[in-house]
Formats: sequence, C-alpha cells, structure tokens
Amino acid sequence: MTALLEVENLSVHYGRSRRRPGHAAVDGVSLTVGPGEAVGLVGESGSGKTTIGRAILGLAAPTGGSLHFDGADVTDVPAEKRAGQAADLQVIFQDPYGSLNPSRTIRQILTEPLTARGALTREAANQRVGRLLHQVGLPADALDRYPAAFSGGQRQRIAIARALTSEPKLVICDEPVSALDVSTQAQVLNLLADLRSELGLAYLFIGHNLAVVRNVCDRVVVLYEGRVMESGPAAELIVTPLHPYTRALVAAAPVADVAAQRLRREARRATLAAAPDLSEPVAGSSSCPFASRCPDAETVCGLRRPRVFTVGAFTVACHMYDRDSGHTQIRD
Ligand SMILES: Nc1ncnc2c1ncn2[C@@H]1O[C@H](COP(=O)(O)OP(=O)(O)OP(=O)(O)O)[C@@H](O)[C@H]1O
Ligand code: SF4
Ligand SMILES: [Mg+2]
Repeated sequence: MTALLEVENLSVHYGRSRRRPGHAAVDGVSLTVGPGEAVGLVGESGSGKTTIGRAILGLAAPTGGSLHFDGADVTDVPAEKRAGQAADLQVIFQDPYGSLNPSRTIRQILTEPLTARGALTREAANQRVGRLLHQVGLPADALDRYPAAFSGGQRQRIAIARALTSEPKLVICDEPVSALDVSTQAQVLNLLADLRSELGLAYLFIGHNLAVVRNVCDRVVVLYEGRVMESGPAAELIVTPLHPYTRALVAAAPVADVAAQRLRREARRATLAAAPDLSEPVAGSSSCPFASRCPDAETVCGLRRPRVFTVGAFTVACHMYDRDSGHTQIRD
C-alpha cells in the first residue's frame, strides 16, 4: 500500500540560529499513514506531538528529514504555498473556543472555504454545508447562529464540519476531545469514527490518553522527548506494550474502575521507586532519552542511544530488544 503521508526521519528545532543548535522538539521521527488509516500519536505534554502536526501542515519548518503527502514532496513547502494539498489535508484543533471566529455565523464559517476557492456556487455551497451539518449531528437552524451560542462539544462538531468541507483525504486531529467533558468526548469520538468509515478519511490522531487513541486508531506511535519509542497495532499495544515508557503510559491511563485504578497507581509507584539513580549523565544523543526514568535501565542505556527494532508488527527503540547491546534483560 502506498502511504498517503510519509514522515521520514523528521527533525524540528525551535530557536535555531547559525550559532545555536536550538531545542530539538522533534528528533528523527518516522511514521506513515495509509489511505483511510487512523494512526495515533501519543506521548506526554511537550513530547513534540503538535510540532509534528504543524510540520506536516507546513506551519513549522523541518530542520531535517522529509515529508511526503499524497505522492508530493512537501518538506520545504510552507502552508501558504500548499495550494495543491490544502484541500486534501485538514486539521481539527484541541480548543473549540479559540478555533472558531466569534464574529462569523456558522454558515459563513462553513461556506467560506467552499466559495473562496471558487469551486462551488453559493447555492451549491449552502447545500453542501446543510449536509455536513446533518452529518456532524447539528440541527439545520445552527447555521445562522454564532459560535458563542454553542457548547464545547457542539463547537467541536462545527470544527469537524469545517475540516470536512473540502473533502480531505487526511485530517490531523490534535487532541480534539481533550477540552471536552467525558460524555461529550465519547460522542465526538463516535462521530469521528463514523465519519471515517462513511467518508474513507485517514486520521493522524494526536492525544495523550492511550485509551482514547485506541478507540479511534488502527495503529499507535508513541513519542517521548521528540523521538519514537514504539509503534504497533492499537489494540495490542495497549495490552502488551513492549517499551518501558509505553508500559508507564498504559499504567498512567485513567480507568473507570476504582479498584483497577488503585492497582495501577500502586504499579506506577513501584515503577518509579525501581528507577535507578544512574550516576552517569544520561542526557544527550549518546543515551536512551528515557534512561533517567526507566525501571529497566542499565549502564548501556546511559551510554548509547538504542536503535529501532522490529518485533512482529511492532517497532521498539530499546536496548532490551538488541541481542548485542549488553543489556541483561534481552527480550524477543
Ligand atoms: N513555537 C515554539 N517555540 C519554541 N519552542 C516550542 C514552540 N512550540 C513548542 N515548543 C517546544 O517544543 C516542545 C514540543 O512541544 P509540542 O507543543 O509539540 O508538544 P506536545 O506533545 O504537543 O505537548 P502538549 O501535549 O502539551 O500539547 C516543547 O518543549 C515545547 O516547549
Ligand atoms: S534502552 Fe534502557 S533506559 Fe531506554 S527504555 Fe530500554 S531499558 Fe529503558
Ligand atoms: Mg500539543
């Protein structure tokens, strides 16, 4: 299958100048999204998820690597020069309050992208928008109201409708439900899943909650400090994670069952208590980025950055999967 999106060894540095290397928010990330596929991108705050999304959209300039979308090299093409891809690649942001212009009616917000491109007459655009509104579960009378008249969940439905006006192939969803209450989250996630199967959309679904991502995605990529730690099929990754960081993420995921939550909390405390106090410096390119927090870290982890290994349908960057690393807990 030819990938719709191909991110190859992507790096993004902030604050880079001729004299300073800047801060590597993303460091050598590779991932693909196939047509109609939903790929999750998870990791804690600051791990570089949004930066990857921004680079794909042409809103952050890569300092290394390449980006291909729908067969075209878009690595060095900023958003304003993406006329050829703009319609096929859309985004839904986290904040439903900040992402809609408060002075435009919903009709204006939704029809503008259609009529601005000259692709549709006003009447055809109105018809399309009416259909979209129905698809995202909003009443037709929503069209002539302003964003302030809607709840967070309804606004996110409007943002989804806006992303769909151009019939995109890929939608980057950057934490689209994190700002919503739990019951609204479930409704919006169901909507995204329905739209995907109805319209054959592909998603790059950014989130920090593995349970949420698992429900929406086929595959998950786990990010830590701008680097990929693990990737694999969503349903398996949450049950049998390979990488110590993914295991910590799974243990930290909120669960509804209080007893299960308590067990996980205890497991998490045990994990943290077991993390070694490595006397060797662990920061920098010559160590595993997770070494200072990893309960399985050994001397080699502070000395060498692990390569990426393929284990069945997974990839994992950890010395424990490298027979030649010298780590004492080698796994298959
Ligand atoms: N415009 C910017 N200028 C400088 N540094 C930035 C900028 N945007 C992000 N960063 C830094 O880059 C790193 C990655 O940030 P990013 O927003 O991509 O993380 P994230 O995984 O999306 O986090 P969150 O879950 O909090 O949204 C962080 O250290 C952040 O402080
Ligand atoms: S390489 Fe070492 S420190 Fe890094 S995740 Fe694996 S065991 Fe832990
Ligand atoms: Mg973010």
